[in-house]
Amino acid sequence: MVEKFSKLCVELGDRSYPIFIGDGLLQSSELLASHIHGKQVLVVTNETIAPLYLSSLVDGLSAYSIETLILPDGEIHKNIEVLNTIFDTLLAKKYNRAATLIALGGGVIGDMTGFAAACYQRGINFCQIPTTLLAQVDSSVGGKTAVNHRLGKNMIGAFYQPQCVIIDTSLLGTLPDREFRAGLAEVIKYGLIADVEFFHWIEKNISKLLARDPDALCFAIEKSCANKAKIVEKDEHENGVRAILNLGHTFGHAIETFQSYKGWLHGEAVAIGIIMAAELSSLLGWINQADVCRIRKILAFCDLPAVAPKDMSSKIFLELMSVDKKALDGSLRFVLLRSIGVATVTSEIKPDLLMKVI
Ligand code: NAD
Ligand code: GLY
Repeated sequence: MVEKFSKLCVELGDRSYPIFIGDGLLQSSELLASHIHGKQVLVVTNETIAPLYLSSLVDGLSAYSIETLILPDGEIHKNIEVLNTIFDTLLAKKYNRAATLIALGGGVIGDMTGFAAACYQRGINFCQIPTTLLAQVDSSVGGKTAVNHRLGKNMIGAFYQPQCVIIDTSLLGTLPDREFRAGLAEVIKYGLIADVEFFHWIEKNISKLLARDPDALCFAIEKSCANKAKIVEKDEHENGVRAILNLGHTFGHAIETFQSYKGWLHGEAVAIGIIMAAELSSLLGWINQADVCRIRKILAFCDLPAVAPKDMSSKIFLELMSVDKKALDGSLRFVLLRSIGVATVTSEIKPDLLMKVI
């Protein structure tokens, strides 16, 4: 049993759940066991993570009737066909409504397993064990679950909260550097949208974070999750303030769509999106150029992109962003910064300002 770990809670009435954060928590099966209902457990993971961590997890759960399902790795497999293999397994093994699904993986596995849990027999329990930095600070918390459709990313899904989130920071030890740095963009995002003190802390401790110092990582993940939990508690279904979690995403999504999701990682596209949102906020007079420089500097320190893809013209940007526009009832929405630590959502951006930024 790991002795030192932190516990946060996402307070959502009867859907409230704890987030445990610590170095080595995968070995602490007691934490997980207390959130497993029933005897039947299906662990869903992928072919990259399984050889690294699946046996440690399963060994600790010998009191249960455990099955494992190893999915192919990658965003292209986040679809209805692969989701169906989870249902096939649950049905073939005669899993009942008291069964628990465990997602052991990054955002792809977490989103798919969560959606399977939301649908199977109209909803069964599930636990998140996120293994990427992005999943530990963002996707495992808040209950957004989904698969992609060929016509749109995350278009088929549900809000469905887990029973618990167990974050073992030691799992990040095997995460490829590029994935790790892309996750840092999301950590920086929390400082910018909601927590100026945390942003200062990141500025001071960025070298420790890049060196994956366990204490620094635990602190940054805890702060990120606490900020996310607070926002989700106010607006679980994204009817309002939850949208600020999408800082940099209007620009970032346009880049990801342009590259057919095969180019930059999500966090890399978000990083340049954050810079564009900061420049736009500065053109509106909300933040000054010194703030923009600080934002550029911290993202550059993480080796995240500082300019949009060279082959992406402003015309393409506008076209791709207006696809988002249709989805949002005719108005293009941006998350901008009133100051470092305070974000706001606006659809009142004049085209000339937007063109300057692009
Ligand atoms: P991912 O799940 O594809 O993982 C990235 C890569 O790292 C994969 O190849 C994976 O196998 C590998 N990997 C994972 N953990 C590892 C480890 N510990 N060691 C070695 N390799 C490891 O990508 P991601 O960035 O975690 O998640 C992206 C997904 O998350 C997208 O589908 C996105 O839509 C979704 N997302 C969801 C939310 C939400 O709120 N639900 C928020 C943000 C993103
Ligand atoms: N990642 C955005 C959200 O959870 O709302």
